[in-house]
Amino acid sequence: MSQVFNPSGTRAEILGCGIFLPGDPIPNSDLSKLMDTSDDWIRTRTGIEQRYWVQGKVSTSDLAFEASKRALENAKVEAKEIDLILLACLYPDHEIPGASLFLQRKLGLSGIPALDIRQQCSGFLYAMSIADSFIRMGMSKKVLVVASEVQSKGLDRTTKGRDTAVLFGDGAGAVVIGAKSVTDAKKDSFIYSHHLHADGNFAESLWIPSPGTNTEGHRITHEILDQGGADLKMNGKIVFQNAVTRMPEVLVEGLNANGLTIDDVDLFVFHQANIRINDYVADKLKIPSHKIHNTIHKFGNTTAATIPLGFGDAIQAGKLKKGDLVATAAFGAGFTWAASVLRW
Ligand code: UT7
Repeated sequence: MSQVFNPSGTRAEILGCGIFLPGDPIPNSDLSKLMDTSDDWIRTRTGIEQRYWVQGKVSTSDLAFEASKRALENAKVEAKEIDLILLACLYPDHEIPGASLFLQRKLGLSGIPALDIRQQCSGFLYAMSIADSFIRMGMSKKVLVVASEVQSKGLDRTTKGRDTAVLFGDGAGAVVIGAKSVTDAKKDSFIYSHHLHADGNFAESLWIPSPGTNTEGHRITHEILDQGGADLKMNGKIVFQNAVTRMPEVLVEGLNANGLTIDDVDLFVFHQANIRINDYVADKLKIPSHKIHNTIHKFGNTTAATIPLGFGDAIQAGKLKKGDLVATAAFGAGFTWAASVLRW
């Protein structure tokens, strides 16, 4: 599904961005004290050098709140101007209700709609497409789109869980999206298009089976927990093979829909699951390395938060500026994959 370039009427623009990472970075060498792994294995197989993990009673909406405050400040928008909150995350604060409700409460915005988006690594791009649609339909004027992940609390930090524990990190990124009347479609800052896909045939290739309703009895039992039913399970090779196919495919779909080429794009911000996936995409599409902003070495795989963390980190590094043409692509559990093209 694509929302394609049509500069007429009301469009949506990113007004500001904020990111938040909890505490101090945890180097690979610290993980080898917890499980049978090594800095060399993690670096060579994934490109990850460190990640951030929350300490103590810090929740998804806590990180989201910190990133949101920074995004609002960066956008020069007051919280009370926001009329819709979208929060993409893997693990909410509680099973019910969604983490967006806790974020809404922390922001003091009771009354406005708040929605959780559960589309894993593509969650932020799915959320942006919803924000874009609400603005273009005239249902919203300023939307807070946040992606926040506290994944560390779901990881098995022993050798049994090393295949996933070394990959994932915590963090949050947020953008404020506002209505924009486009006068110069070639120069104005606005979101051009989103391209969303999913294939539920691969649902079990990267998933957490429990708690859930696909059981004979209660949705969570001691037996399910003892058998590891609530742990993250991934078939890394299948995920990898699909990622290197779907990411370039959806990126090209996004560029073609807007009559753009790789050369037109100033910055590519990709999902960060494995540096080898991103290198493969770059090689396949002949994208020069200076046009790609990778963060995996610093943050690990931060699932839905990865793309906004990439935006914020690129801004801090001086690589993303107002007026730049940006293309993004993400792939993850579901499988879901997506791309967005926008002028920052
Ligand atoms: O964001 C969501 C999307 N996720 C992805 O896109 C992930 C895609 N997949 C991948 O990035 C890679 O498949 C992984 C990084 C997850 C794994 O890399 P791999 O090259 O496919 O390694 P492997 O799973 O084939 O494991 C190779 C070996 C195994 O040992 P044997 O069977 O060869 O003796 C594993 O047991 O490495 C072992 N291993 C580890 N060794 C040290 C697995 N995890 C670790 C570890 N440290 N943390």
